[in-house]
Amino acid sequence: MKPYIYITRKLPDEVLMPLQKHYVVNMWEQEEVPVPREILLGEAEKADALLTVLADTIDEGILTAGKNLKVVANLAVGFDNIDLKVANRQGIAVCNTPDVLTDTTADLTFALLMATARRIVEAAEFVKAGKWESWSPLLLAGQDIHHKTIGIVGMGKIGETVAKRAKGFDMNILYHNRSRKPEIEQKLGAMYVSFAELVEKADFIVCLTPLTPDTKHMFTRDVFKKMKSSAIFINAGRGPVVDEEALYEALVAEEIAGAGLDVFAKEPISADHPLLKLTNVVALPHIGSSSMETRVEMMRLCIDNIEVVLNRKEPKTLVNKEWKPVIKA
Ligand code: DGY
Repeated sequence: MKPYIYITRKLPDEVLMPLQKHYVVNMWEQEEVPVPREILLGEAEKADALLTVLADTIDEGILTAGKNLKVVANLAVGFDNIDLKVANRQGIAVCNTPDVLTDTTADLTFALLMATARRIVEAAEFVKAGKWESWSPLLLAGQDIHHKTIGIVGMGKIGETVAKRAKGFDMNILYHNRSRKPEIEQKLGAMYVSFAELVEKADFIVCLTPLTPDTKHMFTRDVFKKMKSSAIFINAGRGPVVDEEALYEALVAEEIAGAGLDVFAKEPISADHPLLKLTNVVALPHIGSSSMETRVEMMRLCIDNIEVVLNRKEPKTLVNKEWKPVIKA
């Protein structure tokens, strides 16, 4: 019998083509609506492999339902939507899509920083609304980016790639990370500082840290209070790293100058969320890695990982390193 692969969002046919010959492939046929939990549960029961997205909650219920499940390939570098402990216990390989999305996500992060600092979205809306009457000296004046201080929280591959972009803008680079990165310090002139120092000194605080129990609500009201009143906060990591109510209060109290957000505590964010009412907030729908080229690469990597695991080999980008293939039906 051919192994069964279930895909939780509609992916392009050309990406799936190579799979059809050797596997039974079934897919939730909608691009923007998540697969309902009861359907996912039923599919997990039958599946040898799941290709999931970051909006799917792959918890104990799903993983234990998957009696034959050998691999979950998540179309994201983050994997906080998957219960790794249970996956380990069940002998299920969990894979993500690092590397292929690094540059694209760094581009978006820097674009968000620039858009927020230079008020690009506000300015574009201003022109389209027919409000532009004359050139004026301080019309939509934003903040400079060049020669300012960027503080990167989470110096992984994406953080490093954002730092490279910052270097091109002659920025002073501070970073905070679980471990120091001497090569990055040497190559890019980045300086390791404590979280408290970064928050106080940076003009742009860029959050790229993964979501873990330790980083949840790392950005509290107290933290925002310590930032410069001219500081701009950028989040392209995970929403729950930030206490959103605290961010809103800090913006309203003008304790910081603006925020550029690609991620939110609850996604999709509701259109009447108070943060979206603020002109100094630039909000995007979690599109960090969303270029055509990169998304196709990510899909291919997921498929590659699935095939490798189904052939009882070690996948390229395994998250749970302690995983060992176990013989399942
Ligand atoms: C991911 O893939 O985890 C990131 O959120 C990129 O958008």
